[in-house]
Amino acid sequence: MIASQNISLKPHHTFGIGVQARYFSVCSLAGGVAELFSFAAEKNIPHLVLGGGSNVLFTKDFNGLVIKNEIKGKEQVREDEEYVWLKAGAGENWHQLVMYCVAQGWGGIENLSLIPGCAGAAPIQNIGAYGVELKESFYELEAWHLYDKCMVRFNHNDCRFGYRDSVFKNEYKNKLVITSVTLRLNKHPNINTSYQALALELEKAGVTSPGISDVASAVIRIRSSKLPDPAVIGNAGSFFKNPSVSAVQFKALKEQFPAIVGYLLPDGSYKLAAGWLIEHSGPENTTGAATWKGFRRGDAGCHEKQALVLVNHGQATGQEIWQLSEDILQSVHNKFGVWLEREVNIL
Ligand code: FAD
Ligand code: EPU
Repeated sequence: MIASQNISLKPHHTFGIGVQARYFSVCSLAGGVAELFSFAAEKNIPHLVLGGGSNVLFTKDFNGLVIKNEIKGKEQVREDEEYVWLKAGAGENWHQLVMYCVAQGWGGIENLSLIPGCAGAAPIQNIGAYGVELKESFYELEAWHLYDKCMVRFNHNDCRFGYRDSVFKNEYKNKLVITSVTLRLNKHPNINTSYQALALELEKAGVTSPGISDVASAVIRIRSSKLPDPAVIGNAGSFFKNPSVSAVQFKALKEQFPAIVGYLLPDGSYKLAAGWLIEHSGPENTTGAATWKGFRRGDAGCHEKQALVLVNHGQATGQEIWQLSEDILQSVHNKFGVWLEREVNIL
């Protein structure tokens, strides 16, 4: 095992913040995880597993060991009339995995095209986009338990998936290194175009009976038109989750703010579009509108096309991004009485 010292983390996460790791090591074999963790335990320093670094915000140097997961591999482990089971190494690039499945004609994850990061992180927040969540295609995962010192397996129920949530963000946080993820994909795909923006994009393209590659292409086009490319401008996707409110609170908000965007959930509560709340609160801009959308303080900002995405225009510190998120939280609460919750992992 080789751990380098005082390594810049700037190329290893999508916010592009200039921070360092005291120790940094790449792990390309599931068997190497235990040795790396012993190294951190002997030195009594914290550890951090990183995939693509697309859901983290570093607010300071990481005074411990960063383990960059590069465990690769794709293996079709089972097949029947309906499905194939595909096991992917945790370090496989997520979007490339989606493209591979689309090319094989295996459906289930095409709506999750172009989400940055690695397969191993996908179950952690149960990634979701355009009407689909990972949980719908997830079969099982394998992980190294750092304290029990053994491989463990989690099936679908064990993961207790929720909206941007799972056991890996809660009771198992920092206790596991996910080494592989197995997906169950459909050989006779069910096309999901329930997300309005996706249906409209397909209609615009004149596609009346879409296949999975049409869906993937449409999702890629929508995402490219409004989400900032981390290679160009630092960000970690949605900085906050979309909050849920009771039907009573939604009715009261709708009376006061008729244009507010919310969706009825199966349990009778409403999910609010946090992007709308952020766009309709904040300081006055040059046109006199009170909005955070497009706001910039130094190099920390709120994206001009998607208010839910905070951005680093170049040299912002993690503290500056964090402070902006704090100000947005407060301002949305002052105006709408709703507290937003951060989606990004703060370090
Ligand atoms: P990282 O950022 O490296 O890690 C995230 C967390 O998981 C950290 O706490 C880390 O310690 C832990 N972790 C990572 N790998 C492992 C492992 N193998 N074992 C144990 N712990 C691990 N997300 C969505 O859900 N939907 C979207 O539509 C979406 N769009 C995005 C668009 C952009 C432009 C960006 C930048 C991000 C977007 N995201 C989206 C967020 C992000 O891409 C996902 O959460 C992704 O799954 C993170 O993967 P990662 O490998 O980069 O994880
Ligand atoms: N909206 C605004 N202003 C904005 C942004 C959004 O008013 O600046 C309103 C619009 O009414 C729009 C609605 O919000 O119709 C929904 O916007 P969008 O389709 O862009 O989705 P979102 O709710 O902002 C969520 C996810 C994204 C995911 C998209 C597509 C969360 C926190 N975010 O965003 O996930 O890609 O839906 O499904 O759930 C991520 O998690 O990092 C992420 C990017």
